[in-house]
Amino acid sequence: MSNENHQFPDKTNNRVNVKELIEQMTLDEKIAQLIQLAVPFYEGAVGEGLITGPIDSLGITEETVHNSGSVLGMAGAQDVINVQRTHLSHNRLGIPLLMMADIVHGFKTIFPVPLAIGCSWDMDLAEKSAEIAAKEASVSGVHVTYAPMVDLVRDPRWGRVVEATGEDPYLNAQFSRAFVKGFQSDDLTNNLDRVAACVKHFAAYGAAEAGRDYNTVDLSDRQMREFYLPAYKAALDEGCEMVMTSFNTVDGIPATGNSKLMRKLLREEWGFDGILISDWGAVRELIAHGIAADESEAALKAINAGVDIEMMTSCYVNHLSELVERNEVDVALIDEAVLRILNLKKKLGLFENPYRAADPIREQEIVFCEDHLKVARSLAVKSCVLLKNEGMLPLTRNQRIALIGPFANSGDVLGPWSWTGSKDEAVTLVEGMNAKLSGYVTLSVAEGCGIETATEQQWQEALAVALDADTIVLALGEHSDMNGEAASRSNIQLPHVQLELIQKLKSLGKPMVVVLFNGRPLDLHGVYEEADAILEAWYPGSQAGHAVADLLFGDENPSGRLTMSFPYSVGQVPVYYNAYNTGRPQGAPDAQVRYVSQFLDIPNEPLLPFGFGLSYSKFEFSEAQLSATTMTETEPIKLSITVSNKGSVTGVETVQLYVRDMSGEVVRPVKELKDFRRVELQSGESADIEFTLTEQQLRYYHSDLTHESDAGAFVAFIGPSSSVNTELKFNLIK
Ligand code: BGC
Repeated sequence: MSNENHQFPDKTNNRVNVKELIEQMTLDEKIAQLIQLAVPFYEGAVGEGLITGPIDSLGITEETVHNSGSVLGMAGAQDVINVQRTHLSHNRLGIPLLMMADIVHGFKTIFPVPLAIGCSWDMDLAEKSAEIAAKEASVSGVHVTYAPMVDLVRDPRWGRVVEATGEDPYLNAQFSRAFVKGFQSDDLTNNLDRVAACVKHFAAYGAAEAGRDYNTVDLSDRQMREFYLPAYKAALDEGCEMVMTSFNTVDGIPATGNSKLMRKLLREEWGFDGILISDWGAVRELIAHGIAADESEAALKAINAGVDIEMMTSCYVNHLSELVERNEVDVALIDEAVLRILNLKKKLGLFENPYRAADPIREQEIVFCEDHLKVARSLAVKSCVLLKNEGMLPLTRNQRIALIGPFANSGDVLGPWSWTGSKDEAVTLVEGMNAKLSGYVTLSVAEGCGIETATEQQWQEALAVALDADTIVLALGEHSDMNGEAASRSNIQLPHVQLELIQKLKSLGKPMVVVLFNGRPLDLHGVYEEADAILEAWYPGSQAGHAVADLLFGDENPSGRLTMSFPYSVGQVPVYYNAYNTGRPQGAPDAQVRYVSQFLDIPNEPLLPFGFGLSYSKFEFSEAQLSATTMTETEPIKLSITVSNKGSVTGVETVQLYVRDMSGEVVRPVKELKDFRRVELQSGESADIEFTLTEQQLRYYHSDLTHESDAGAFVAFIGPSSSVNTELKFNLIK
């Protein structure tokens, strides 16, 4: 049945005056708009039709569900139409539901996980991926996506690093804008192929102590502003409609009850007037955190802090009206929250057409279509990072290849937050490689071991196929549940059985390529020194096997660059490139053997730094030039360099510009990314790259939180990764 065949309820219209509507609402109806419940609470959802069971668990009534404002996790055009229709038949004032869901890196066409998209450094494709995700989600009835997740991440023990784009505030902010633009565009009323975005998790969720999920975050205001806040702000500058709170504390107060963060910073200072939604259960969690004695106090703190929608708990619906009666909560706060919710419904055109773009027929045509899969493949190619290559890659097609490992023939390549994606429809590595080899040789395949367990038979099969081959390709990694929410790990190596598999196969003395499918920077001990080549594929999404095979056989040239450092070992964590120096740095002219800032047993440097990634091309950089050695507030300087491709194939180099402030008012990072260019060069081709650096780019948050630059000495660096060392000195004169 198509959308057009539905009778829209008479009581809805797009000219609805939201303020007048609020005047007609009872206090209970208003408060019910503020609860968000998951799909099983709604009549009409396929296979559910519930409404009775779960409401007891929340102590709410059917009436509340009928008056509720939004649904969590709803998708599928026909389901959405059914639920919305049933809802409107129960809702006195005909107020439609907002359908929200986690469409994070694709709807059914799954793109690489965000950490992988980060490694593409490609804002246009990132935006395109969000646009496609929005189009598929919208036709399937989704109105709002809980994305982008823009938390800055430094600790690979935290499972949710997979959802973020990395450790750099500048790059994260660019991705944040690109994603919001892709999801929303700039006309949600008329462009029904887009959905509203909800940036999350505000704020600083990525700084959880020890990388343990939901754990304490305690940062100075300066750290927050310098590193953690820019990407959220960038989303809002791009017009992001919603913000989600984070689970963690911020300076001792859980974000969801934190007025300083939400009312003062988000609403007053940044002027955000959209909907603020709690994360799942985060209002009631104020009790466990220990800032609310009961649900009533939790409701009081959250509404005062500015939270409009309470996700999946019922503190608001069960307590706000008595708080209003007791004059502890001003009803104006509730009206304000309802106004924001109804305004978004109006902007999305839901009063005119509550089904919006939901259309079961169009859904069939659009979702998972060829055009979308092409973009997914292209972004997956660009997201993989070549970590090591001792002349092994690309593979030739005329050799006998043994493909071994738990990811050889696995559809578990979509990564977390791909709930509408199907593992069965994902292209596995064996499928991708076979597509390349048909007409050449036969690929031999063995599982070798499971992800965390192995049998003697698996070992034997692996050894047998490897013995017969010229080259071994090992497909290893973490299963996707080892990443994402509530998936912190203290040991970030590959599971032991997979390291054992490497050892067993190594004993055959054959060339070995490792392809990694995982969601966090790993401790690569046991892999890095053993493999001849390593391709970090992350979770590449629906087209995984094709994209990886494109790279392995050289039909595509790796161009991904890490946006999160790979630690030497977990003991270094957190380790990130934009750190501060100490008073006793290693390697300084007067550095001692002892009594400098170092570990006794491991280096200070990560194994693989931010910005790093290899290519099949060989790029050379000329000496960089400065247009002047002094900069003023009105006269920027220009920095230029020539990059040449001395290799035999076309490739993309990512030229990176870093700056260090040598005499800050507070200590400054040893390097900060300020700009970059991705440049494609054919074999033998050169390009002159020029960066313009302005005084504004040198501004940062001082001890009094003013955002300004310091006169004095600076050093710039231009190169292929954050480990570039050639210094270009200049002065800022003010
Ligand atoms: C996660 C959010 C997500 C929400 C709704 C929470 O547990 O932290 O990122 O958007 O669930 O699914």
